[in-house]
Amino acid sequence: MNISVIGTGYVGLVSGVCLAEKGHRVVCVDIDPHKVAQTNQGIPVIFENGLEALLKKNISSRFNATTDFERAILETDLSIIAVGTPFDGDQIDLSYIQEVSRQIGETLRKKHAYHVVVVKSTVVPGTTEGVVLPIIEQASGKKAGSDFGLGMNPEFLREGMAVEDFMNPDRIVLGGVDERTLDRLQELYRVFEGVDIVRTTPKTAEMIKYTANAVLATMISFSNEIGNLCAALGGIDVVDVMKGVHLDKRLCPIMPDGQRIIPQFTTYLEAGCGFGGSCFPKDVKALIAHGKKAGHPMSLLESVIRVNENQPQQVLNILKDHLPDLKGRRLAVLGLAFKPETDDMRESPAIPIITQLLSAGANIQAFDPVAQDEAKKLFGDNCITYCETLSHAIAGVDAVILLTRWEEFRKLPDLLNKNDVPLILIDGRRMLDKQHFARYAGIGM
Ligand SMILES: NC(=O)c1ccc[n+]([C@@H]2O[C@H](COP(=O)([O-])OP(=O)(O)OC[C@H]3O[C@@H](n4cnc5c(N)ncnc54)[C@H](O)[C@@H]3O)[C@@H](O)[C@H]2O)c1
Repeated sequence: MNISVIGTGYVGLVSGVCLAEKGHRVVCVDIDPHKVAQTNQGIPVIFENGLEALLKKNISSRFNATTDFERAILETDLSIIAVGTPFDGDQIDLSYIQEVSRQIGETLRKKHAYHVVVVKSTVVPGTTEGVVLPIIEQASGKKAGSDFGLGMNPEFLREGMAVEDFMNPDRIVLGGVDERTLDRLQELYRVFEGVDIVRTTPKTAEMIKYTANAVLATMISFSNEIGNLCAALGGIDVVDVMKGVHLDKRLCPIMPDGQRIIPQFTTYLEAGCGFGGSCFPKDVKALIAHGKKAGHPMSLLESVIRVNENQPQQVLNILKDHLPDLKGRRLAVLGLAFKPETDDMRESPAIPIITQLLSAGANIQAFDPVAQDEAKKLFGDNCITYCETLSHAIAGVDAVILLTRWEEFRKLPDLLNKNDVPLILIDGRRMLDKQHFARYAGIGM
């Protein structure tokens, strides 16, 4: 199939490259000429494992990028909208979606062949039919469901695992205004054999995406609230508590041969310094705002956000227990992005933590295997020393703060125990075994 992807960011670029790898012909469109030029040179504008190799493999043959919106629509059969939907504090900002819908509509006015438009951006329930549809109909003079197809296909990829997730989806959710749209979407995804497909309305597809993110965010904040209570009560470690909870056979079933299944969702039932990234905070806040507008305030989700926003402070409180005056102290901050394997700094817990450390007069030696350039854009070059290696980051510091679960940090017991005077590790993710450290503190203990 000939596909155009509008918006060449995390979702657009990964979707475009992976759909090309699966055999479709793809053109990715962006308004940023720098992004387009770099993409066409085979250099992804974001870091994702395996993305560069797939981009280089498919470029020119089945994949290319362009700023020529109109041509991309005219020369393809199906367009995927993957532009940003940031939360503006009151609601999701649909201006990018609206602009793209208008441009698509104006182009469809000039096109005779049937075209399908699919919203992949995360949008609140009702957006595809209530916002995108009327704009395209008005700009094109055509009718959705007969002259053109319109659908909603939420994306569930996880940053850091984006290529792996897109190439091996756990589900494909297709919302369509009519059967013909749904059939086209199913044809698009025929290359992903054997995957569970949900065929539904656009509104339900939109709701599935928000609900999927909200349940995971809720599990994280629940675990953090329990962790904070463990710390307040004293003498209880949330890691031990959660180990006991996970062994419930309804969470981790026991197979007939006695083996345990450990589902991945149990990793969301662990305490830490909070969730971040471009999705969970934004999507939960958007759902809360949408609920309020619908006359249904969502008090549970409001608490999920409140707990999360307070969680970076827990790390600072633990640090202050050990170093009451941070002025002039040298601190290693390990991990800058909101999770490992990504350079995405959006809503990373490291941002409020570093900001407070700097304003308390601390000197920071930071290390993140891939996110340092993004961090420099936020904090600048001067106030933080960005270290090339883990060993450099912990050299000469008064304390080490771990904020991201990078596998490389498993070397820390060896590195820290080498010191004559053992350094304290503040484990903001409860990633490492406290038994392996002479001095250890963490969330939830
Ligand atoms: N990042 C994720 O992990 C993730 C996962 C699932 C869903 N989503 C959702 O997908 C959507 C996109 O997220 P993202 O992280 O890829 O955003 P992004 O900011 O990385 O990318 C958006 C891109 O759209 C481009 N753009 C804006 N206006 C345009 C226009 N008129 N024409 C062409 N291009 C235009 C921007 O230049 C940018 O490159 C959002 O709704 C997000 O919530 C994101």
